[in-house]
Amino acid sequence: MEAAQQGEVLIAYCDCYTCHKEDKDSVGPAFKAIAERYPVQQVYIDLLAQKVISGGKGSWGSATMSPHPKVSLEEAKLMVTYILSFKQNSIK
Ligand code: HEC
Repeated sequence: MEAAQQGEVLIAYCDCYTCHKEDKDSVGPAFKAIAERYPVQQVYIDLLAQKVISGGKGSWGSATMSPHPKVSLEEAKLMVTYILSFKQNSIK
């Protein structure tokens, strides 16, 4: 399975969709908006994966992302790879 597909499955089994939608802003930014902001480069994948694990706020607005300490760095990178795949795929 490709990394993006693995990330899609991991996201489906986690709580991500309670705050994120694919193409509309919700509590958190749309996956598509995140994909448009960041280049698909290792440095951003690492940065965003770390943010998924530690949570935080301030990059998009005043809402806070909850931390996900049970998500491993490896899993978080797969999740981010899926989110950034919305850049090439335009709309799914
Ligand atoms: C409690 C609501 C909530 C949940 C659950 C949540 N997020 Fe978020 N997420 C947010 C908010 C709010 C932001 C914007 C944070 C900011 O402004 O810095 C965000 C931002 C992001 C970003 C962009 C970070 C940045 O610095 O630009 C990514 C990537 C992301 N979330 C992925 C995920 C993934 C993957 C999951 C599931 C493991 C998840 N989120 C679960 C609310 C949530």
